[in-house]
Amino acid sequence: MIIIDGPARLSGEIPVQGAKNSTLPLLAAALLCKGQTVLYNCPDLSDVDTAVKILEHLGCSCSRTDDRLIIDSAPTRCDVPPDLMREMRSSIVFLGAILSRCGEAKMCFPGGCELGPRPIDLHLSALAKLGAEIREEGGCLVARAPGGIHGAYISLSFPSVGATENVMLAACCSEGTTVIANAAREPEIADLARYLNRCGGRIYGAGESCIIIDGVQELYGAEHRVMPDRIAAVTYMAAAAVTGGSITLTGVDNAHIMPMLSPFEESGCVVRPLGGALNLMAPQRLRAVKHIRTMPYPGFPTDAQPVVMSMAAVGEGTSIFVENIFENRYKHAAELARMGASIKLEGKVAVVEGVEALHGAPVTAWDLRGGAALVVAGLAAQGRTEITGTWHIRRGYENITGRLADLGARIREG
Ligand code: UD1
Repeated sequence: MIIIDGPARLSGEIPVQGAKNSTLPLLAAALLCKGQTVLYNCPDLSDVDTAVKILEHLGCSCSRTDDRLIIDSAPTRCDVPPDLMREMRSSIVFLGAILSRCGEAKMCFPGGCELGPRPIDLHLSALAKLGAEIREEGGCLVARAPGGIHGAYISLSFPSVGATENVMLAACCSEGTTVIANAAREPEIADLARYLNRCGGRIYGAGESCIIIDGVQELYGAEHRVMPDRIAAVTYMAAAAVTGGSITLTGVDNAHIMPMLSPFEESGCVVRPLGGALNLMAPQRLRAVKHIRTMPYPGFPTDAQPVVMSMAAVGEGTSIFVENIFENRYKHAAELARMGASIKLEGKVAVVEGVEALHGAPVTAWDLRGGAALVVAGLAAQGRTEITGTWHIRRGYENITGRLADLGARIREG
């Protein structure tokens, strides 16, 4: 449980963790490389622990000292145990990596946040184009590449982040050239390509919608610094915003934060990028965040929608959200309503009428970012908020209670 006694006014400096959504594909990529990979700025999260357990199960050795994770990759098997697959959806990125390194892979369908149907059809059809034969056996996926992985032209019908990563991982060591059209452009894709290229890969255009991969024979482990977590950054910005606070985030990449700035500006915050840092000063009372439509990068990220909804809940006026990426991503709305928020849902649209103040309540985190939204709301609310289901939050936020307490919040684990 996380217990928050609000309201608080956050102030001070906060270092931003390495990106969860970059670390997970990087760990899958480490599997492709002979020898040692050293990842710096590696966040201490339960999802990262799960990915490490997958690597260890496959026969790799992993050791961590502070934010440095060393992976020695020498896989001896090619299956992922069902409990590790169920723990997080992004374990599906191991499919492309295992298939490429071992020639076959076996794993169950992935779990993770319950955000509505999260199919993997794009992953599977793309891997099939690269030469994989995939069949379902007793609820598990069994993939083989009898003739090896070969280059192919892949046009994604939606720029799926996970499918783009899986193709990059499968095709990096292959015969011939692979082209991914309508690839996801998220910064985490570019981070993955930077690492793979450092290991000897030849990937061009990552971060743009057409990625070209010239297959190479072998990859060798390298050192890499994980990019900053843009979603953790926006979460702490929202926390400062709802508390009328003033904070400086350090270790951020402001270019990645730009697509998320509009709700802060609309609501009256002053945001100043300062090299690798960002300063946010919030007014005493926020205004509405107006209109948020979630879109693939460089649009407004779906992962930032819940924490910005907590801002809208206390912002003066009406805000409208349209969630275009996941079907079931408003579970936090009902929990925010328990705290006094006024939110009406209609399919993918949420209409939020900002109230003057929220009040503390017992609430439940149903997913990772929805849980973070409850933490943000709890900081603004009058009285005590008790959040259960916090294992979801620990999947993606390193020491969130400690970081917020350092900024002046009365928050603890109970
Ligand atoms: C990644 C992120 C997640 C983020 C999401 C969207 C990681 C570990 N996770 O998830 O935090 O919320 O991007 O930015 O990086 N889809 C299909 N078929 C597929 C694959 C996806 O229909 O085969 C659909 C999904 O149902 C969803 C949409 O495409 O509606 C986006 O999914 P995708 O971009 O693949 O997200 P993830 O990679 O799962």
